[in-house]
Amino acid sequence: MLNTDTEGVLQEAATGALPGWERVEELARAAHARYRAVDDGTVADYIPVLAEADPAWFGIAVAETGGALHEVGETGVAFSIQSISKAFVYALVCEEFGHERIGELVGVDNTGLPFNSVIALELNGGHPMNPMVNAGAIASTALVPGATAAEKWESIQAGLSRFAGRELEVDERVFVSESATNSRNQALARLLQSYGRLDADPGETVELYTRQCSLLVTASDIAVMGATLADGGVNPVTRERVVSADVARDTLAVLAANGLYERSGEWLFQIGLPAKSGVSGGIVAVAPGKGAIGTFSPRLDEAGNSVRGERATAYLSRTLGLNIFASIDARATEGKQR
Ligand code: DON
Repeated sequence: MLNTDTEGVLQEAATGALPGWERVEELARAAHARYRAVDDGTVADYIPVLAEADPAWFGIAVAETGGALHEVGETGVAFSIQSISKAFVYALVCEEFGHERIGELVGVDNTGLPFNSVIALELNGGHPMNPMVNAGAIASTALVPGATAAEKWESIQAGLSRFAGRELEVDERVFVSESATNSRNQALARLLQSYGRLDADPGETVELYTRQCSLLVTASDIAVMGATLADGGVNPVTRERVVSADVARDTLAVLAANGLYERSGEWLFQIGLPAKSGVSGGIVAVAPGKGAIGTFSPRLDEAGNSVRGERATAYLSRTLGLNIFASIDARATEGKQR
C-alpha cells in the first residue's frame, strides 16, 4: 500500500448538490427514453437460469442522499445481485477488520484481467489484488464474521438488507443453477487456499459467495444501496447507519479502481464515478455526497457490463453534473452552488 502519511488528518466531505427534484426526475426519464430502443449486447448464459431474463427489461432509479427516489421503467423487476454484492460484502468486512488489514489481505489494485481470471492469481503469488474480482470477493466472504457458515450467512443477508433498507431474499433457482456450474470459482478458492490466503473451508466459502450473489434486488434497491455509500454509510431512506463514513469512502475508492474490472479506467474516463456491475444486468454508480444511480438491463457487452446501463449512467453523470473529476473555475462561479 502507498504510504500517504494521513493518520489523524481530518477528512472533509465532498461538497456539491444535485439539481432540484424535478430536474433529476426529468433527466432520469430522458435517459430511459434515449436508450430504451438500444438492443446491442447479449444476455448472460454461463449461469443457465440468467438466460431466462427478458432482454427488453430496462429500469433506472436515482436515489438522492436526501432520501428522494426517482424510478423509471422496470425498477421493480427483481434480479440476482451477482457481482454488485461484492462491493457491499467488502464494506461489511472493512467495518470489521479496518482499512490497513483489509488492504493487506485483499488488496485494492486492478488486475487488468477479467473478473474470473485464474492467471491473475498466479501472476500475483496468490494475492487476490482487489475485492471486486471473484478471487478477492471469495477471500472477502471468507472474512465475514461468524463462527459457522450459518452465522456468516446471517451477517451477509442482514448487512446487505440494511444497505437496501428492506429484507433481501435469495433466488433459490439462481443459487442452484450457479452452484451446479461454478467450478471455476471453486478452483479459485482452492488456489487461494494453496497460497495460504483462505483461512476458511473453500467449499463452504464458495457456497456462501454463490448465495450472496443470488440475493434478489431491484434497480431501486441497488440505487439505495449505492446512496448509502454516497451518504457516509447512512441509508438515506431508513436513516440507519450501516457502515462508518471511512468504510464508505474506502469502498468507493476500491469501486473506482476496480468496479468495472479491466474496463475500470475507461469507465472513469467516460463516466467519472465509482461503480459496480453485475452479470445479471445491474449497475450501481455512486456520486459521493449526492446519491446513486441504479440501472438494470440484461443485455451485456463483451466485458460483462450492461449496455443500456452504461449509456444511461454516462448520460446522467454528464447531465446531473456527477463526474467527480469535472471541476469549474471557482472564482467565476462564486456564490453559486452546483
Ligand atoms: O461468480 C460469478 O461468476 C457470478 N456470481 C458473478 C459474476 C458477475 O456478476 C460479474 N460481473 N460483471
